[in-house]
Amino acid sequence: ASPLYILGIDTSCDDTGVGVVELSLDGSVQVRANRIWSQTVHARYGGVMPELASREHVERIDEVMRDALAEAGLQVSDLGAVAATSGPGLVGALLVGLMYGKGLAQALNVPFFASHHLEGHIFAAASEATLQPPYLALVVSGGHTHLFDVPQAGEYVLVGATRDDAAGEAFDKIARLAGLGYPGGPAISEAAARGNPDAVAFKEPLQGQKGFDFSFSGLKTAALLAHRAGAGADDLAASFQRAAVHVLVKTTRRAAEAQGRRTVVVSGGVAANAALREAFAATDLHVVFPGKGLNTDNGAMIALAGAAALRGGREPSSLTAGAMAYA
Ligand code: KG4
Ligand code: ZN
Repeated sequence: ASPLYILGIDTSCDDTGVGVVELSLDGSVQVRANRIWSQTVHARYGGVMPELASREHVERIDEVMRDALAEAGLQVSDLGAVAATSGPGLVGALLVGLMYGKGLAQALNVPFFASHHLEGHIFAAASEATLQPPYLALVVSGGHTHLFDVPQAGEYVLVGATRDDAAGEAFDKIARLAGLGYPGGPAISEAAARGNPDAVAFKEPLQGQKGFDFSFSGLKTAALLAHRAGAGADDLAASFQRAAVHVLVKTTRRAAEAQGRRTVVVSGGVAANAALREAFAATDLHVVFPGKGLNTDNGAMIALAGAAALRGGREPSSLTAGAMAYA
């Protein structure tokens, strides 16, 4: 018998992502293609315009899908299943990928899986290691800073989340404030390498809390005040990055200890940050990160979630599955 090829689609925000994974008979998975069209129309508005995002997904999705198949060396008829993100995200944007995926699955007469975006981010690490629960999962992106305990496959217990801004949002806002450009994460990371992390003192958010929540709005305000007081962009970047990394690692470590977990998956756009990776690697935890191109939003992570659903014997989703807005 031949392996199964699963197509994954993510149109949750401003990236049109389509990926293909190969699920072998022994249960191992391999990313065969991962194509992303990143929308640039939003730059002039300083934020994502939902209506424009939907329209551009409609115009691009077929081309991105064909590029993904070409990268994998496959024909559309080789696909054995289709998965698409149903949320959370921008509803109009999600509907494009969802309906495209449903239509494709129906035409090919293969199973369709509606996938949760955060589950996709977690499964992005599944090509690096065969993920076996139990583990803890930290999803840090532009829209989320969520800590889940995963006691068994398919079960996600939220143990902590941001009370205000997401971590990536703080990177983006502080980069903009310091004139470092967009997207803020890579810009801060680059500037931080030149700056002095001791230049600006940031107070640790939620210090002394018993729980495992996050807060980034205080760091953002402190950065604004330091900027007005004349702190340079590189120093601000270095100091903020250290404070953000410190609180992410410290809170995750405490949660892992409380839940009795040794393995931690760290995923989402901010997981691409080198300083964060180094700090996690220096802990006593077994930390798993997604591979290159799998940290930020993409289709392969949704295909990986689809592969996990298939492997786990999950029932395919109904073709009436709807889209879910950001919480
Ligand atoms: O996962 P993602 O593509 O989209 C969401 O689902 O939100 O994450 C995007 C976020 C942005 O805020 C971006 O600034 C951040 O991830 N990011 C980074 C880095 N690369 C991307 N943050 C810190 N360091 C990076 N190297
Ligand atoms: Zn995301």
